[in-house]
Amino acid sequence: MANDNLKKAKKAKNDEFYTQWADIEKEIMAYIEYNPDVFRDKTILLPCDDPEWSNFTKFFAQNFEAFGLKKLISTSYAYESKKANIPYQTSLFEKKARHFNPDINKTRGKIFTLDHDTNKNGVIDIEDLQWQYLEGDGDFRSDEVKKLRDEADFIITNPPFSLFREFLAWIMDAYKKFIIIGHQNALTYKEVFQLIKNNKCWLGNGFKGNAGHFISNYKDYATANNHIDGMIRVSGVNWFTNIEHGRRHRPLQLMTMADNIKHSKHKEVRGHEYQKYFNYNAIEVPFTDAIPSDYDGAMGVPITFMDKYCPEQFEIIGLGIATSGLECGVKPYTEEHRNYRKNIQKRGTVDGDLYMVDNNNHPIVPYGRILIKKRENT
Ligand SMILES: C[S@@+](CC[C@H](N)C(=O)[O-])C[C@H]1O[C@@H](n2cnc3c(N)ncnc32)[C@H](O)[C@@H]1O
Repeated sequence: MANDNLKKAKKAKNDEFYTQWADIEKEIMAYIEYNPDVFRDKTILLPCDDPEWSNFTKFFAQNFEAFGLKKLISTSYAYESKKANIPYQTSLFEKKARHFNPDINKTRGKIFTLDHDTNKNGVIDIEDLQWQYLEGDGDFRSDEVKKLRDEADFIITNPPFSLFREFLAWIMDAYKKFIIIGHQNALTYKEVFQLIKNNKCWLGNGFKGNAGHFISNYKDYATANNHIDGMIRVSGVNWFTNIEHGRRHRPLQLMTMADNIKHSKHKEVRGHEYQKYFNYNAIEVPFTDAIPSDYDGAMGVPITFMDKYCPEQFEIIGLGIATSGLECGVKPYTEEHRNYRKNIQKRGTVDGDLYMVDNNNHPIVPYGRILIKKRENT
């Protein structure tokens, strides 16, 4: 397979990973713990969700009464529109329905709705879920799914990884509350970072160890990628949200600069002065747990800091990467440093990236950094 096709196939397969019940439960319970009424009398839309495969619909349907929901809607994407080549299976759920239609079953999306006790057994749960075919294929960008978005209070899902940027913009267009899964790399997308900086989006409670184990149907692919019993491990995934939860307000426990230099567990920090960037007035902090508690100026910290970010403790200045860096005052490479990177180090240069220089005046470029500053009185 040509490299490009392989990449495309990989991407499409990444879009078909399903979230485990335990991960959904752990995340959603963090919001409930913070505010037990967070979903009371609300409509939740779960787009990109096929209840036969997905635990999101099952989880919210089973907790419909406990959460006090008004309405649960989930939509699924038509089999033929999925780019990945997965085996086609008609679910029991579909076959036993009187309106099941094999002629359109592969090409239409479906809508699943739960809002009352249809079987009159005294509880509202997954048994009361009703479904219909959508007019189109269930693409979240279609007018009919947009209409459902507009009707909903909350959008919750694990969207297709390859469309994360577009999916988040789709939510923000309608100013909805959301809880969605994404890769931490998305934090460095310019528009996502702007939302984070402006306190319109933040990371959720999170996956254990910052890695998600998703259910995958691609045994061949998954075997080559840490596949264990139908599961695939994806590191660096997180939840993105604009709903409050407790962990976000828990400040990081940090040591002073002097104590870090004396006792840090990181050899890069212990016994060294904190370095300053050459092209921006801030210190370089290579590890989140090495942020000095008593430094009042700007600091460049790893992207993974966002998982520990408490807005009462720190203010975000900007992203020290490329044009975002330039916009917050990071200076471009000097001619000399640019030439050194290109000719001696054979590395590219991107103006706006933060860098330090060593004793020989050679540029040292760390990984992407977020610029932060301690809030006063913290
Ligand atoms: C990463 S999977 C997650 C599935 C489910 N939400 C879960 O977490 O278990 C993303 C789902 O979105 C579907 N999808 C892909 N492109 C879509 C689109 N444009 N509109 C709606 N759904 C789409 C995929 O077929 C897949 O079922």
